[in-house]
Amino acid sequence: MSEKKQQVRKMFDAIAGKYDFLNHFLSAGVDFYWRKKALNLTKIPPDAVLLDIACGTGDFAAAIRKAGVQDIFGADLSFQMLQLFGKKANWIRGKRVQTIAESLPYIDETFSNITVAFGVRNFYDIPLAFHEFYRILKPGGKVTVLEFSLPTNPVIRAVYTFYFKKVLPVIGRIISGDESAYTYLPNSVEEFDKKVDLQGIFLKEKFASVKKNLLTFGLVQVVIAQK
Ligand SMILES: C[S@@+](CC[C@H](N)C(=O)[O-])C[C@H]1O[C@@H](n2cnc3c(N)ncnc32)[C@H](O)[C@@H]1O
Repeated sequence: MSEKKQQVRKMFDAIAGKYDFLNHFLSAGVDFYWRKKALNLTKIPPDAVLLDIACGTGDFAAAIRKAGVQDIFGADLSFQMLQLFGKKANWIRGKRVQTIAESLPYIDETFSNITVAFGVRNFYDIPLAFHEFYRILKPGGKVTVLEFSLPTNPVIRAVYTFYFKKVLPVIGRIISGDESAYTYLPNSVEEFDKKVDLQGIFLKEKFASVKKNLLTFGLVQVVIAQK
């Protein structure tokens, strides 16, 4: 098993109980707006058959449900995150699986839509995961990825980096009790921003079209790829 996969699973299992609170607190609730905005951009029809990967405790799936989609499945690497999803929303019972994005237990062309919010950065093999997404999507199906990025404006970037690297890890550590999770967050975002071109990977994996939108000065990106 890859080292990153083990580490990520352990980390999310450890912070699961505090994840929702910290997420909303540290982003001052803006994370709700980002999920909603990503859905407005991608326009998922109510009759979609949707898989939310890296679903965690279910906040993106809940927003998708609120937007009118009924048939939602969830997949995540962390058992503890999935357990909390089950407690929060019983409509997902029987429709959530503990699995990795890089090897999905679904037959070809099962879903019309795939969504991933703040998950891709944690994958241990993004091209392999996108290859799987392509396989399980119906022709014309869409993947919507919501992920952090770093602002390009140098002043905003400096302020944000200070908050992200100096303030957030301290608050995260005190509240979650986990020494490393909230240091991992800014470090993984920085590395991801430097090294990973999501549009390029989607195109290499044969997706027909890919669009990218930046939100809130480029703090997050929404990438929509169509098969
Ligand atoms: C930051 S949380 C995001 C949860 C949720 N999507 C949200 O918007 O709040 C990231 C999730 O990705 C999951 N994850 C990380 N690597 C994964 C992988 N390779 N396959 C599936 N899930 C993964 C973690 O277990 C965690 O629940």
